Formats: sequence, structure tokens, C-alpha cells
Amino acid sequence: MKRIQVNTKPSYEVLIGPGVLSESGAYLKGLFPDSRLAVITDSTVAPLYLETARESLTAAGYTVSTHVFPAGEASKNFVTLSGILEFLASVPLTRTDCLIALGGGVAGDMAGFAAACYLRGIRYVQMPTTLLSAVDSSVGGKTAIDLKAGKNLAGAFLQPSAVLCDTDCLRSLPPEVFADGAAEAVKTGVLCDESLFALFEDGSLTVNPAEVIARCVAYKAGVVERDEREQGERKLLNLGHTIGHAIEKCSGYRIPHGHAVAAGLAIMARSAERQGMTEEPIADRICACLKAQNLPVVTEYPPDMLAEAAGADKKRSGDEITIIVPRKIGRCALEKIPVSGLLFTIRAGWREN
Ligand code: GLY
Repeated sequence: MKRIQVNTKPSYEVLIGPGVLSESGAYLKGLFPDSRLAVITDSTVAPLYLETARESLTAAGYTVSTHVFPAGEASKNFVTLSGILEFLASVPLTRTDCLIALGGGVAGDMAGFAAACYLRGIRYVQMPTTLLSAVDSSVGGKTAIDLKAGKNLAGAFLQPSAVLCDTDCLRSLPPEVFADGAAEAVKTGVLCDESLFALFEDGSLTVNPAEVIARCVAYKAGVVERDEREQGERKLLNLGHTIGHAIEKCSGYRIPHGHAVAAGLAIMARSAERQGMTEEPIADRICACLKAQNLPVVTEYPPDMLAEAAGADKKRSGDEITIIVPRKIGRCALEKIPVSGLLFTIRAGWREN
């Protein structure tokens, strides 16, 4: 099992490896010896992993309450949040108790936000079951729900007390859901360095996901430690996301996040390279890694439609927007551009050849 320390306030460990769910009770007993636990999960994950988690937690002596909400991004709203909060109050969970988010990005973001709101903040633990939540969303304390105007528009920063990532859960993922996480992982490789990026070029993600997840988490932990509230460096983690979010929005959220980010990353890499902003050729290498995971590197939505959608992104401030420009593998830069410049940026990288 791999262990990574995230030195935020509070600091916490990320445990990654096979069988972690079965060991979760014994591990948490060391952190919260006398707490009551409430597990929040969704209708896809509950039949697969809720019993394993509950058995381990009750075997460690915990009283465990559970709440299951309907799976899917459409659930990430005030109605589901209110259901979770009412459930926590009915248990009742107190300030010394702990909430557990079992599932993918939706369960983690929403249960994390419930933990941030309930009694003005209680502790919570992330148990990611998808690759996307393992490499990205379970670490770093971003919690949120969606509003009609867009994704993740209401939320809070609250670091978890632990992240327990059982890599056995990845085996049940449909290929397209695994690919969603692969997009965030490849993004991390572009940001981090050649040695992590090489793990996507040599196929390690499929052969040894625990190693790749651990390397991605270690990189993200460092960024979050230096910039917990996304005032500067953490913005780099949004590489490919401005165009990616625009693709998601143009599709009416039919295209899943990771697939949209993959196309956004590819467009951004080609755009940077064609504008002479890169220090070496990178677009073909990035696109090859994405294609190897059956991820898209183009989009059907035209540049003007994407530019309009991207201009409404929550990362816009006034008439400017910060884009993340890949310069080489392991070096990306934040660039403020006028919102009116988005169309040029997207057009430059939109076509594959
Ligand atoms: N998913 C990007 C971040 O946590 O900042």
C-alpha cells in the first residue's frame, strides 16, 4: 500500500492500494476512536462497495448509518444536498462524528459540501471508487454542487481527514469511466514531469494503476500544500479545463468531464505549439496518450460556440480569463488573456491537422 501525506491544515494521509476498503475500519479507528460514522454513496456504488465498507467499519466497532442518492451528475444539486443534510440531522451526527464519501467525483464533491455545511463543518473522509476521484477530486478539499448556471458554482474548501483509495474498485469501472479519470491523470503528467508523463506513454496506467495514482496524488498534494485556496499555482490544475468545460456545456453535459477535458487539453496543446509558445513539440505526444485511452482529441463544436461558452467560465475575472499554456512536459504557465482572445486561441488548436 502507498501512503502520501498532504500537509494542509488539517494534514491527512492518502492511502492507495488493493484491499484498502476492507482495512478502512481499522485505519479510521486510529483517527476517530469514538465517533459515529455516516456513509454517503450513490445508487451505482452502493450495491458494489457499501457492504465491504460497512463490514470493515462495524468490525472496528463503529456505529454506521448510510444514505444512498441516485447516481449521476444530475443529482449534484440542492435537492440531493438537502436530502443528505436532513439525513445527517436525523441520525443525528454530532460535531465529533465523521461523514464518509464513498464513490466518484459526484459523491465526493457533494458529501464533502454537506460536511462543510452541516453544523458549520464536520470532519469527512474520502473513499474514491473511480479513477477520476482517485487521481484528482478526492484530494485537495474542493467540494461543490452544480447550479442551473453551471457546474460546481456553489461550494467550499474543506480538506478531508483521510483519503482511502482502494484500487480494486477500478476493476468494476466501465472503460469510458476509467478513461474519464485517465484524462485527468494525463493532464497531471503534462504538468508534473517527463518521468510521470512516461508512465502514460508506456501503458503503466493499465498495468500498475496504484503507482500512477500515487504519483499523480503526490504531485497534486504539493500544489495544494503551496496554494490551498487556488490563488495562484493551483490554477495550473485547470489545464485543458476552460475549453473542456465549454465542450461539456455545449453538449448539454452529455459529454462526460474527462472526455471533454481530453479534447480541451489536446486543443490547448496544439494551439500553444502552433503559436510558437512551446519550447518543444508536445501536442502529438499528448494526443497519443489520450488516444491510447480512447479519449477524444477533437470536438465537433465550432470555435465560436466554444469561445462563447468558455467566456462564461467561472475562472473569468472582468474582461480577462486565465488560460494554462503548456510550454513543455513538466512546465505549464498561467497566462491572462482578454476574453476576446479566446476565439483565436481555440481556432489555432481546433483542427487536428
Ligand atoms: N481539480 C482541480 C483542483 O482540485 O484544484
